[in-house]
Amino acid sequence: MNVPLGTTELRSRFEAVFGAAPDGVWQAPGRVNLIGEHTDYNEGFVLPFAIDRAARVAVRLRPDSTVRMLSTFGNQGLTTADAAALEPAAARGWTKYPLGVLWALQQRGLAVPGLDLLLDSDVPRGAGLSSSHAIECAVILALNELTGAGLSAQDMVLATQRAENDFVGAPTGIMDQSASLRGAAGQAVFLDCRDQGVRLVPFDAEGAGLVLLVIDTKVSHSHAGGGYAARRASCELGADVLGVRALRDVGVEDLEEAAGLLDPETFRRVRHVVTENDRVLRTVELLEGAGPQAIGPLLDASHASMRDDFEISCPELDLAVDTARTAGAIGARMTGGGFGGCAIALAPAGAEERLRATVASAFTGAGYAAPDIFRVRPAAGALRLA
Ligand code: GLA
Repeated sequence: MNVPLGTTELRSRFEAVFGAAPDGVWQAPGRVNLIGEHTDYNEGFVLPFAIDRAARVAVRLRPDSTVRMLSTFGNQGLTTADAAALEPAAARGWTKYPLGVLWALQQRGLAVPGLDLLLDSDVPRGAGLSSSHAIECAVILALNELTGAGLSAQDMVLATQRAENDFVGAPTGIMDQSASLRGAAGQAVFLDCRDQGVRLVPFDAEGAGLVLLVIDTKVSHSHAGGGYAARRASCELGADVLGVRALRDVGVEDLEEAAGLLDPETFRRVRHVVTENDRVLRTVELLEGAGPQAIGPLLDASHASMRDDFEISCPELDLAVDTARTAGAIGARMTGGGFGGCAIALAPAGAEERLRATVASAFTGAGYAAPDIFRVRPAAGALRLA
């Protein structure tokens, strides 16, 4: 895990590498999805929050179309590209994210010049905490300001989605960038993915004597792989057969009839999305009423639905969730797109040490790599640091 550089240190490293001071430094956080998985591209509801781990970029626009990019981590070295000749799917490693943003802005008709960019990030990569969207959101915020493009938060959400879908090649929805751009400290982002309407919902676990732990299974995933796209295709098939615009338009009360119309696998996929939308709404209601102590059973039900109906969990995630529950968590679920990545556990603060030890030893016992377990808090969305 990277220890994040301070803003001054990032600026002076930039200057040492590129020979001039950056125009500014921008930061955008990763996210944890509290609940509402694979509902975003079904025009449904999600409830993520921005976390206190972020990507930071120091950026300087250039007078030509050359793009030079370096990160403080990994061994990719200095990468160069030509902003005037960007090709989807050609870029490799993390640089495809800034380049994807440049490309998506060009697709909107904006003239984007070349730039120098230094990236630092303490969002674990490939763990399902949206390290890629954190980079994209920091970059789009920087370019929006530096070019005077005047994009709204909604425009930036759609442009980064375009970058992911059509440049990176991951057919993802709008949840991650919405959380990164629109998150706020102590709040979860209740997002209606049909109209992009946002309501901030208080989520102060620690104020309620709880902690929200992330358990990174270290099983790495990629949404540019087949599983994510296959789930998306099943949802589209389900909506088609049921004659609705999107699964958002199917209610829990419609499921019995749907069972008679869909093949068994498509029905299970549909049932996950429909019940998950309902769980998001109930979680919001509880957070605005009884508070975080009340949402545990909904987190558990969400995990069971992803494991059994949507089939996107894996043995490591199931072990993390089950063990966290036996060690005292009041609710636990995998978070993000699935097929690896992280689980979250909501636990009484007093159970944290036991939970960490129990999960770690269960992983050792099963012969799995040691998981990373850390606390996260709902933090501010993307912003300019300097
Ligand atoms: C990934 C995608 C999101 C969303 C989740 C699943 O994180 O980027 O758009 O679909 O998976 O909820």
